[in-house]
Amino acid sequence: MTSNPYPLGLRLHGRRVVVVGGGAVATRRVPALLDAGADVLLVAPELTPALRARADAGRLHWVPRRFVPEDLDGAWLVQVAVDDPIAAASVSAVAAERRIFCVRADDRTAATAWTPAVTRHGPVTVAVLGGGDPRRAMTVRDAIRDLLAVRLAPDGIAGRPDASTGTTGGQQAGRVALVGAGPGDPELITVKGWRLLTEADVVVADRLVPGLLLDELRPDVELVDASKIPYGPSRAQEEINQILVDRALAGAFVVRLKGGDPYVFGRGGEELLACAAAGVPVTVVPGVTSSIAAPAAAGIPVTHRGVAHEFTVVSGHLAPDAPASLVRWDALAGLHGTLVILMGLKNLAAITATLIAHGRSPQTPAAVVQEATTGTQRVLRSTLGDVAADLSAADLRPPAVVVVGDVVGALDG
Ligand SMILES: C[S@@+](CC[C@H](N)C(=O)[O-])C[C@H]1O[C@@H](n2cnc3c(N)ncnc32)[C@H](O)[C@@H]1O
Repeated sequence: MTSNPYPLGLRLHGRRVVVVGGGAVATRRVPALLDAGADVLLVAPELTPALRARADAGRLHWVPRRFVPEDLDGAWLVQVAVDDPIAAASVSAVAAERRIFCVRADDRTAATAWTPAVTRHGPVTVAVLGGGDPRRAMTVRDAIRDLLAVRLAPDGIAGRPDASTGTTGGQQAGRVALVGAGPGDPELITVKGWRLLTEADVVVADRLVPGLLLDELRPDVELVDASKIPYGPSRAQEEINQILVDRALAGAFVVRLKGGDPYVFGRGGEELLACAAAGVPVTVVPGVTSSIAAPAAAGIPVTHRGVAHEFTVVSGHLAPDAPASLVRWDALAGLHGTLVILMGLKNLAAITATLIAHGRSPQTPAAVVQEATTGTQRVLRSTLGDVAADLSAADLRPPAVVVVGDVVGALDG
C-alpha cells in the first residue's frame, strides 16, 4: 500500500469499540479509548490485572472468551491486540466484510487504520504517523512534545552516571528511577518524572498510575504490570524488587512508576533498599500525592488560615483494633486539624466510631473523594457521624480519600 493515510480525529464518545486481546498491547491501548469516552467491548479469555480492574470497576465490558463475528455488531472500530496472526487475520476479515476500520498490533500492513504516536497538551492533541514506521513517528512526536512542554530544568537529573551500556536508556542504563506518577490526571506527573519515563527501557507500573502515560511509551519498552489491586490478587513485593534489580543489573534503565508519591504508602522505601543492597543506583522523583491532591480536586484545602493549622495523613488499611495497627486513633481524635485517610473505605465505620468514641465531634464535616483528578471523580460530603453510612448508600469505591475536618466546606460560598 503506497498511498498516504488520511488523518482523522475519531469522536468515539458512547460509540462501541471492540478490542480483541487482553494482554500488554490492549493494556496500553484501552486507556486512550476510555479517555475518548468509547464504549469498549473487550474480547479475551484472560485479562492483565490492570484491564481486569477496569472491567471490575465497570469501565468496560469484558467478554471472557475468544472472538466471534457477532462481537462486531454495532462496532465503529476494532483494535486487534493479539499475537496470533491467524486469529488477528480472522478478526480483520470480519471487520473488512462489515466496513469497520481495524487496527492491527501484529501487522501494520494488513491494518485498515493506524494508531499514531500521540502527545496531549490540555485540549490540544498532536498525532503523528510515520509512514508505517512507528519509531519515526515517536521521534517526531517527542520533538513536538518537547517544543510544547514547559522548559526542562537545565541541570538534568542529579547523580547522572557517566557510563553508557548502549541500551536505549543511554546514560541512564543500569539504574532505577522511582517515579511518582501523580494522583490520576496524566498531566499531574512532574516534568522530570515524565522525561525519565520517556527514556526508560523497562517500566514497572502500578494499577493506580494514569493509563494514558503508558499509552505514550515507545513500543519497544518492556511494560511490567505490578498491579496491586486492593483486597484482590497481588504480586509479592519481593518479586517486584527482584524485577527492578534484575533488569537494572542487565543494563536497563528501569522506571518504577507509582501512583501519587512513591513514599506515601507506596512501599518505595522497600524498593530503594532492595536496589541499594544489590548495588543498583536509584533516583527518586517525588509525585503529587493523592492525600493532598484529592481534597484539592474536590475544592478542599488541607489547611486554611483560621481553620486548620495541621493536617495528618493516615492509612486506614488496618482496622483501629487490629493488633498490627501502628496508628493512635485515640490521639488523632484529640486533634483539631485535618485528618486525611487513605485506603480507609473498608474500615470507615470502625474508624469513624473510634474517632467519635475518643472525643471528635460527630458533626465534624467529612468528605470522600473517589478517583480524584480523573474524568470519573466523585465527591461525597457528609459528617464524621454519617459518612460511613452515606458512603455505602452512594456506592463509592476505592481508590478514594476521606477528609475529616472543618476545612471541608471552608471554601464553600
Ligand atoms: C497504596 S496507597 C498509595 C498512595 C499514593 N502513593 C499517593 O501518594 O497518592 C493507595 C490509596 O491512595 C489513595 N488514592 C490514590 N489515588 C487516588 C485518587 N485518584 N483518588 C482518590 N484516592 C486515591 C486511595 O486511598 C488509595 O486506596
